[in-house]
Amino acid sequence: MNPEKIPVAELSVLDAIGQRRAVRNYLPDPVPRPVIQHLIDLAILAPSAVNQQPWAFAVIDDRSTLERLAMDGKELLLAEPPGPEVLGSGLPALAHLREAVAEPGYDLFHGAPTLIVIYATEMHGVSDCYLAGENLMLAALAFGLGTCPIGLSLPILEMPDVKAELEVGEDWIAALPMVVGYPAGATPATKRRPARITTWR
Ligand SMILES: Cc1cc2nc3c(=O)[nH]c(=O)nc-3n(C[C@H](O)[C@H](O)[C@H](O)COP(=O)(O)O)c2cc1C
Repeated sequence: MNPEKIPVAELSVLDAIGQRRAVRNYLPDPVPRPVIQHLIDLAILAPSAVNQQPWAFAVIDDRSTLERLAMDGKELLLAEPPGPEVLGSGLPALAHLREAVAEPGYDLFHGAPTLIVIYATEMHGVSDCYLAGENLMLAALAFGLGTCPIGLSLPILEMPDVKAELEVGEDWIAALPMVVGYPAGATPATKRRPARITTWR
């Protein structure tokens, strides 16, 4: 693990969990590919049901491709009436998000230099992909990187032409898209309601 001796901060698991934020403000600096490769190697240490490892990773770090996907993704979200990709994506309360997304300056990928899309290669593999994604997001902190899941990009990543372009299987499921990059400044913590524990006996 870490064959390229990439500089990495000493960070406890508890600190990583406590410090992770959905980062929405990035420096334009590219993330070196060996760092992304290392993050993916750590992501796949996540558990998966019957060790099926039903995941595949599409990495996009080409600026013009990212910009095009962001624009097309926005268009798809704002289309009236919503298409099947949007309706089928299970995006919660899209109506509330529409106004923000419709702003001309709204970038689906928040200006991040890299998008990693975890595709589930099996119908029941989506939850395993989430576990891999959390591994990746926590590990990213040790490299000084910020991350943000981008559920709003799920519909565009389900489009057959985009799947073909990303060389992913037609029947794979876009599970968790995440942007990765160097944060431009600190991100304050969001609040949590106390955990609702219904039974403990
Ligand atoms: C499945 C999922 C989809 C998300 N989609 C988006 C998104 O499209 N755009 C965005 O800016 N944040 C997105 N987020 C980030 C959440 O808004 C964020 O995690 C939440 O507000 C809590 O903030 P925190 O992660 O900083 O604690 C998503 C998070 C998850 C888990």
